[in-house]
Amino acid sequence: MFETLKPQPVDGIMAIAKAYREDPRDTKIDLGVGVYKDATGLTPIMRSVKEAEQLLWEAQNTKVYTGLIGDPAFGDAMIGLVLGDAVPRANIAAAATPGGTGAVRQAFEMVKMARPDARVFVSDPTWPNHISILEYLGMETLRYRYFDDETRGVDFDGMMADLRQAKAGDVVLLHGCCHNPTGANLNTAEWDAVIALLQETGATPMIDIAYQGFGDGLDADAAATRKIAASLPECLIAASCSKNFGIYRERTGILMVVSADTSAQALNQGTLASLNRLNYSFPPDHGARLVTMILQDETLRANWMAELEDVRLGMLKLRETLAGELQRLSGSDRFGFLAQHRGMFSLLGTTPDKVKTLREEHGIYMIGDSRMNIAGLNLETAPLLARAIVDVGV
Ligand SMILES: Cc1ncc(COP(=O)(O)O)c(C=O)c1O
Repeated sequence: MFETLKPQPVDGIMAIAKAYREDPRDTKIDLGVGVYKDATGLTPIMRSVKEAEQLLWEAQNTKVYTGLIGDPAFGDAMIGLVLGDAVPRANIAAAATPGGTGAVRQAFEMVKMARPDARVFVSDPTWPNHISILEYLGMETLRYRYFDDETRGVDFDGMMADLRQAKAGDVVLLHGCCHNPTGANLNTAEWDAVIALLQETGATPMIDIAYQGFGDGLDADAAATRKIAASLPECLIAASCSKNFGIYRERTGILMVVSADTSAQALNQGTLASLNRLNYSFPPDHGARLVTMILQDETLRANWMAELEDVRLGMLKLRETLAGELQRLSGSDRFGFLAQHRGMFSLLGTTPDKVKTLREEHGIYMIGDSRMNIAGLNLETAPLLARAIVDVGV
């Protein structure tokens, strides 16, 4: 039976990770796979997470199933973290999912269930898995302009012109903060203009927020999401705990559906439970329970916030070091965008040939579209990267 299958495309990021592992040079630099790394190249378990695990190990006396939407306390804790008090709790349906990817997948499924003809507008570029999942689900996908190759900032006029084509019954997918892969983000006035446009067109926003706390701080990173949720009658929010809690393999995420009133909330809540049941029944619990414990306990929460802030400031320092070195070596300000970008990634904005030269001649591994994971650097390697970027003539 399976001879009818066609080989699936190899994930580009995994292929780069493999090539990096096989490179014998000890000067090699890994800017590929999207996980946070400390200055020694490790992806550490956060101390607050370890502490919560210890407490959980001591206190937990059953591993019986939770509910189909996960532990409601996780929903409450995450709604608080992402939305604060922007929207009445009674208007929000929420379900735990396997990671942010699970939330994205369930969100698309819910849209397809409600509106089989919905078109989904995604930024060009976006996290490639958005497009893969949409294609797999057979949903119509349209790309809106996002990245300005010249300034390496947001092509805001292009974005607005393209989003003007969206209409009621369509979905506009936005990255809540720390855009992946570009690192370029909207400012407050631009978010306001997008909100006004969504109000005008009637299209439904879907926000993917996978890096809250990695950009300008926990609240600042959620500000756009909160404003959208408060300003529009409906929105979908897919949030991941993988990065900001460093619990990648625990598969912890949540899908929230904000509606204008409580009767829609009940229908949405039932739909989320049903979608979980249909796809994997109960969502993973371990990571969700750790997140709940951390967010609910004053000390654990304060420790986690301090650790996350260190991570954020460390990445900002790396950005400034890299941009500063590039300015010194190139004698121009054209790499200043690296210090303006936020989150783990920046799109360098160069050709696949130059990405290849950086890999082959300098042992620097970035994704083929020139996405760099800034957390793959440290204060010693940032100047080496700057020198290589100038040498290959980016
Ligand atoms: C934009 C975006 N959304 C969602 C995810 C999903 O993360 P996870 O499923 O690991 O929680 C990622 C992870 O790389 C991402 O970059």
